[in-house]
Amino acid sequence: MKGYGGASVALCYWIFLLGAALGSLCPCTDPQLCQPLTGSRDFEVFVFYTSGKNWKMYDWSQVTTIALFGKYDPELLCFAHSKGARLVLKGDVPLEEIVDPKNRTFWITKKVELAKSQYMDGINLDIEQPVLKDSPQYDVLTALVQETTEAFHREIPGSQVTFDVAWSPKCVDERCYNYTGIASSCDFLFVMSYDEQSQIWTECLAAANSPLNKTLSGYEQYITLGIEPKKLVMGIPWYGYDYMCLDLSEDNKCTLNKVPFRGAPCSDAAGQQVPYRKIMKQINSSITGSLWDDVQESPFYNYKDVKERLHQVWYDDPKSISLKAAYVKARGLRGIGMWNGDLLDYSNDLIAESQTKEMWKALISEPALPSLF
Ligand SMILES: *[C@@H]1O[C@H](CO)[C@@H](O)[C@H](O)[C@H]1NC(C)=O
Ligand SMILES: *[C@@H]1O[C@H](CO)[C@@H](O)[C@H](O)[C@H]1NC(C)=O
Ligand SMILES: *[C@@H]1O[C@H](CO)[C@@H](O)[C@H](O)[C@H]1NC(C)=O
Ligand SMILES: *[C@@H]1O[C@H](CO)[C@@H](O)[C@H](O)[C@H]1NC(C)=O
Repeated sequence: MKGYGGASVALCYWIFLLGAALGSLCPCTDPQLCQPLTGSRDFEVFVFYTSGKNWKMYDWSQVTTIALFGKYDPELLCFAHSKGARLVLKGDVPLEEIVDPKNRTFWITKKVELAKSQYMDGINLDIEQPVLKDSPQYDVLTALVQETTEAFHREIPGSQVTFDVAWSPKCVDERCYNYTGIASSCDFLFVMSYDEQSQIWTECLAAANSPLNKTLSGYEQYITLGIEPKKLVMGIPWYGYDYMCLDLSEDNKCTLNKVPFRGAPCSDAAGQQVPYRKIMKQINSSITGSLWDDVQESPFYNYKDVKERLHQVWYDDPKSISLKAAYVKARGLRGIGMWNGDLLDYSNDLIAESQTKEMWKALISEPALPSLF
């Protein structure tokens, strides 16, 4: 018995040294869960995680990838792997810093090492910087995506490299990227079908964050460029915009203060982003209750703040999301996802619970549609 104990102490010590040499010990009780995932799932459900422990209440029957936009949580890693879901890093770097290929390689190597030391499965590149077509950054960005993908796929077999793009490829917010080059260099694009009023060129009025027609036209533009539907994951918002109205007309036109953004005279920067959970708490005390806009296929409401100022709030709910989700299925996109998983009310209040469940369900619902496309 004594000898046994000695051997196991020695073994533990040896494992400890090995762990230290590898950077860190596997945090999961089942060491198998520290293996990066290699399989692929038919339909991607891509969730941005930002903070806290709400991830425990995500609908794990759907989730395929968690993009870690908050602190690394070893418990989340083990849990995600136990559900067959990937955990990927966030990648962002000022492009000026990686024009030199050596600096680029250095940045990529660091990210691969970090992913490996945390047993993670890839990276989501979230580079939303303005890039003009004739600037050196144009090719630098494409090279970054290509080299990051090569390095991750080589060093972590089965890993996933993805890139976040605006709702349309037409130089939205001065993001004039080589979209076809980027798409062919990574596993898929996450299309951010929100903040679609970041540049308002027409009348300066409050409008939907993700109006259906505008959203779908963005996908058609990507596909027209030659990007396959299977390279596109639709990103929908679990938040809305609260706008203070300079004037609110009888037919609900809310005039905004002009806040310019990247060359446009008016922008959603005039409003404030609000989580769906906050909207659901506010709506019953609003002036109008939820109204539906038939053109933008989105809900909104008006309310008065404590200083008696009028506001208009535009958001997405299970109905507006289902309409977009139906397009995902009909057009054969790779999947769907949201910014972000932590904006719902995960408390055990009964009403909140059902609202939260409906939002998750809307991602895969297939309502009978009028002929939209
Ligand atoms: C590129 O890397 C070198 C060597 O580490 C460093 O001195 C230099 O500042 C970096 N360049 C930029 C633009 O960050
Ligand atoms: C975009 O990137 C691809 C792949 O690197 C390249 O072949 C293509 O020439 C680039 N397109 C433009 C317009 O620069
Ligand atoms: C708001 O009102 C609706 C309709 O009357 C009701 O179904 C819902 O539960 C209410 N929400 C809250 C948070 O009280
Ligand atoms: C949506 O777009 C389609 C096709 O471009 C167009 O026929 C239709 O009128 C648009 N619907 C609305 C409500 O703007």
